[in-house]
Amino acid sequence: MKDELDRTNNEQEEVPEDNQPGIRPQSGEDFKDVAHHKQLGHAEPIIKGNIKVKHRPSTPAIKRVPTGIPGLDQAIEGGLKKNSVTLAGGCAGAGKSIFAMQFLVKGITEFDEPGVYVSFEESRKEVYEDMLRFGWDLKKLEEEGKFEFIEYTPEQVEKIMKTGGGVIRDVIDKIGAKRLIIDSISAFMLLHETELKRRESALALFAMLRRWDCTTLVIGQYAQEGPSHESSVLEFEVDSIIWLYNIKKEDIRVRALEVFKMRGTKHTAKTFPVQIKEDGIVLYPEETLF
Ligand SMILES: Nc1ncnc2c1ncn2[C@@H]1O[C@H](COP(=O)(O)OP(=O)(O)OP(=O)(O)O)[C@@H](O)[C@H]1O
Ligand SMILES: [Mg+2]
Repeated sequence: MKDELDRTNNEQEEVPEDNQPGIRPQSGEDFKDVAHHKQLGHAEPIIKGNIKVKHRPSTPAIKRVPTGIPGLDQAIEGGLKKNSVTLAGGCAGAGKSIFAMQFLVKGITEFDEPGVYVSFEESRKEVYEDMLRFGWDLKKLEEEGKFEFIEYTPEQVEKIMKTGGGVIRDVIDKIGAKRLIIDSISAFMLLHETELKRRESALALFAMLRRWDCTTLVIGQYAQEGPSHESSVLEFEVDSIIWLYNIKKEDIRVRALEVFKMRGTKHTAKTFPVQIKEDGIVLYPEETLF
């Protein structure tokens, strides 16, 4: 066996790059030569001929964006992946809009990341009034140029999408937004009658969101708790899924949050108890639900 390895190491026969089995540089990929690869401290590969090795850092640094929800970040390795798209789903009144707004407001006030909220559901007036209850003065943040509330109908957004998203993009650029909320994808998908059209439209929206370099929360309304068959296209398309629950236990409802999926993240499998307190949502990582 050792002889075989030695022979392989010594056999520096010339094999044309194009004939290397399984090693096909794709156009546009970042290939570095073997010498550079070694400098980075990787194990020395067995080299036959002029093979080029794709450079992969051994510990890729994933940039994280803290959510601003006390207790949540420690359960997801520090926060959401920067510029990822997360589906925040749940049934009516589960706390989705409060969760999303907290992510934006804390982004601005604690992490210096301006944010844009695109609402198909509630009016600016209603949202601003309700959020003041938590001490979140959206008008003030807007005046400071750190927050924008865009009130559109799904029809308007679909028109905007057909022109490449220009108007929303302009708002993002104007305030240098790093966080974005779409409330809700469900209202948007209802524009179309057939499942196929809904999927196409949702996929086009996601493609547009991914071009905007924002960490994005897309809110999804679900008739019942947890994932459903109809929504599967969304669930595969997003990087992460957070479910918000309002579960009935005897004569009381208990709020909970579950990180159902988060690409590139070692997250807990536990469903955490949460509460909506005077200053927003708090998650209790050490406590059990029942
Ligand atoms: N100031 C507050 N303090 C405590 N709980 C509150 C407060 N304001 C709202 N809530 C609770 O949060 C719920 C609404 O939260 P939110 O608007 O985030 O829900 P949602 O999931 O977005 O609902 P929908 O699907 O209807 O838009 C209310 O039904 C209420 O139970
Ligand atoms: Mg809502």
